[in-house]
Amino acid sequence: MMEKLSFNDTIQLNNGVKMPRHGFGVYKLADENRFRTSLEVAAEAGYRLFDTAMFYHNEAYLGNFLASSGMKREDYFVTTKVWNTDQGYDNTLRAFETSLKKLQLDQLDLYLVHWPKQEPFFDTWRALERLYDQGLIRAIGVSNFEAHHLERLMTEANVLPAVDQVETHPHFSNRLLHRYLEELHIAHQAWSPLGRGPLLTSEPLLQEIGDKYGKTPAQVVLRWHLQNNVAIIPKSETPERIRENASIYDFALTGQEIRAIDRLNRGERVSNAPDVIYVRTEPDFQ
Ligand SMILES: NC(=O)c1ccc[n+]([C@@H]2O[C@H](COP(=O)([O-])OP(=O)(O)OC[C@H]3O[C@@H](n4cnc5c(N)ncnc54)[C@H](OP(=O)(O)O)[C@@H]3O)[C@@H](O)[C@H]2O)c1
Repeated sequence: MMEKLSFNDTIQLNNGVKMPRHGFGVYKLADENRFRTSLEVAAEAGYRLFDTAMFYHNEAYLGNFLASSGMKREDYFVTTKVWNTDQGYDNTLRAFETSLKKLQLDQLDLYLVHWPKQEPFFDTWRALERLYDQGLIRAIGVSNFEAHHLERLMTEANVLPAVDQVETHPHFSNRLLHRYLEELHIAHQAWSPLGRGPLLTSEPLLQEIGDKYGKTPAQVVLRWHLQNNVAIIPKSETPERIRENASIYDFALTGQEIRAIDRLNRGERVSNAPDVIYVRTEPDFQ
């Protein structure tokens, strides 16, 4: 019998900090009015972790929303990320200061290196370690790091990343990396947990399982992540979907159903492979 999951659950990171397991992603929420409306619905539905990035150009919208939300600081958790062109020791320190200001926070909950870059590599992490040592960030982590990037990082790091936020959904289940992260006590957080949408209608199995529980394919997929011990940050700017994505705690998938969804894996990404960005020498990508 699996232990009962709830929307308020947190995962204890490897430094003891508690991170909500089920958060809200804000990539592509580019208009402040739409941003605010979506966040109001999300907060009302119970979301308390908000995942942004300098690259999303909406940290200031999140800061404005949080400052006027009436939520107490200890009740929400904010993640942001250092962008590729801001990597390096001094650049990262500066980028962090800008992000913190936009977010109107004194302390950030989680700061991630958005993508691994071959150069600079260690300098960026050293800047995160410094900010962490100074108490300006509660936990530091990485995003889009595969096992070999982590292996390299660990040759010089003083602080082990607390989180690796990586693409994960039924068409790209990333189970090998998941097992590696589990061994290292690094939390696996899924980005594009819904595969950005298309797989929800292209895989009859998800509908079939959903029909059994009176749930949608999106709810089945999100529940599959949780039962596979993966943290999630789905994004939606559609009020009904925001609520729908929160309502996944009144049913449970069987082991057989989880394994059937695991078998949908095709190793098919919705975005860049980390190594493409890792070795890329042009300053940026879209
Ligand atoms: N670290 C990284 O490199 C990285 C990369 C990508 C994303 N992320 C983070 O991960 C978050 C989530 O990823 P994502 O935004 O790429 O993709 P996602 O959450 O997998 O999917 C979002 C898409 O699915 C649609 N959707 C949401 N709920 C739905 C539902 N119940 N039924 C049908 N369609 C639904 C949304 O449409 P509507 O909005 O129109 O409802 C949107 O088009 C991002 O917002 C960001 O915070 C991080």
